[in-house]
Amino acid sequence: MSAEVKARAGLEDIVATTSRICFLDGDRGVLAYCGYDIHDLASRATFEETCFLLWHGRLPTRAELGDLQSQLASARGLPESVLRLMKMLPPSDGMDALRTLASALGHYDPDARDHSPAASYRKAVRLTGQIASLVATWGRMQQGGGPIAPDPAMGHAASFLYMLTGTRPQPAAVRAMDVALTLHADHELNASTFAARVAAATLTDIHSAIVAGIGTLKGPLHGGANADVMKMLIEIGQDAPAERIDAFIKGKFARKEKISGFGHRVYRTEDPRATHLREMSKQLGREAGNLRWFEMSERIEALVRAEKKLYPNVDFYSASMYCTMGIAIDLYTPIFAVSRISGWTAHVLEQFANNRLIRPRAEYTGPVYPQSWVPVEGR
Ligand SMILES: CC(C)(COP(=O)(O)OP(=O)(O)OC[C@H]1O[C@@H](n2cnc3c(N)ncnc32)[C@H](O)[C@@H]1OP(=O)(O)O)[C@@H](O)C(=O)NCCC(=O)NCCS
Repeated sequence: MSAEVKARAGLEDIVATTSRICFLDGDRGVLAYCGYDIHDLASRATFEETCFLLWHGRLPTRAELGDLQSQLASARGLPESVLRLMKMLPPSDGMDALRTLASALGHYDPDARDHSPAASYRKAVRLTGQIASLVATWGRMQQGGGPIAPDPAMGHAASFLYMLTGTRPQPAAVRAMDVALTLHADHELNASTFAARVAAATLTDIHSAIVAGIGTLKGPLHGGANADVMKMLIEIGQDAPAERIDAFIKGKFARKEKISGFGHRVYRTEDPRATHLREMSKQLGREAGNLRWFEMSERIEALVRAEKKLYPNVDFYSASMYCTMGIAIDLYTPIFAVSRISGWTAHVLEQFANNRLIRPRAEYTGPVYPQSWVPVEGR
């Protein structure tokens, strides 16, 4: 593929829409939601404030934040039929389960047939509450546990961890999860958000658009990379000496294989989200008395930067961070969705508000037109 064809195939640097939600400057490593720098949001905002910001384009007042927290809390209970469906699913990948279950939620939504802006907003809030419960409950069931009823007094991150583990989470774990959710909430026209917007632009319902987003996030070039990073760290081995780590990564270079968690279509410098995730991975590792995954990740980062000039992306240090928190690998990408549902729904609402069908063209490279028809007996 020529560089030109490659760039076109990936719609590289193509501006496909206008949006008031996310500002991204890949050369300077800037990410901002509605003008607020991700570094400020990571250190000061809660995920609920971030949701409000993405959905309304401004920060909430205290009363508005309280209202949203109550709305999210009351959305956390899952329909009984969806819980039954969850139990009926065969052992499956977390993203496959989420795709099916998020789709099922659409059948039971009280606003299912109402496509008005007010109903779409209610569905955005409801989906954000429900997807966290889906992922937590599914994760718990995979470990043999039963569903935990949500505690309405808890914030979003705390409730997610509580419903996943069945125990009241420690403040440090809650804060780490809250920051991770804020960091993953939106990222302009990333592949899954674009997929959700393309779906929404046909004026389909919000659940269908979100299912398109979930299916797209699953891929290893997108959200699936965080699970692949952890699988790679485990394959190298927690007790591997430095030489084995180096040999493993250099082997991948030699075979021209990609290293999950590195590289980005937009950033030409450090992904600002990785800065926070690296720090959290280190802090949580230190608190847990096990810095091994973090140290291995740091060594891999140094090698990849030196040899390939590639920076870690959002999926690299989130892997060792979630592992240190005791979260199963199969939940890493679903947790990405627990956060990104806020960005997906913000973009879908924006698309609905100012819609035009998204329908690009392809340059035809098939057999010359016209071909002459040969009856089946003569082929
Ligand atoms: C994110 C990603 C899909 C962006 O892809 P892209 O913009 O299409 O870039 P390309 O895949 O064309 O990569 C450009 C070059 O960098 C190399 N490269 C990119 N990411 C790499 C990685 N993670 N490991 C090794 N080499 C990589 C490519 O091999 C290519 O080299 P070449 O020009 O010699 O062929 C890509 O970096 C990748 O596959 N990363 C690993 C998966 C991942 O972490 N995804 C999560 C993204 S947030």
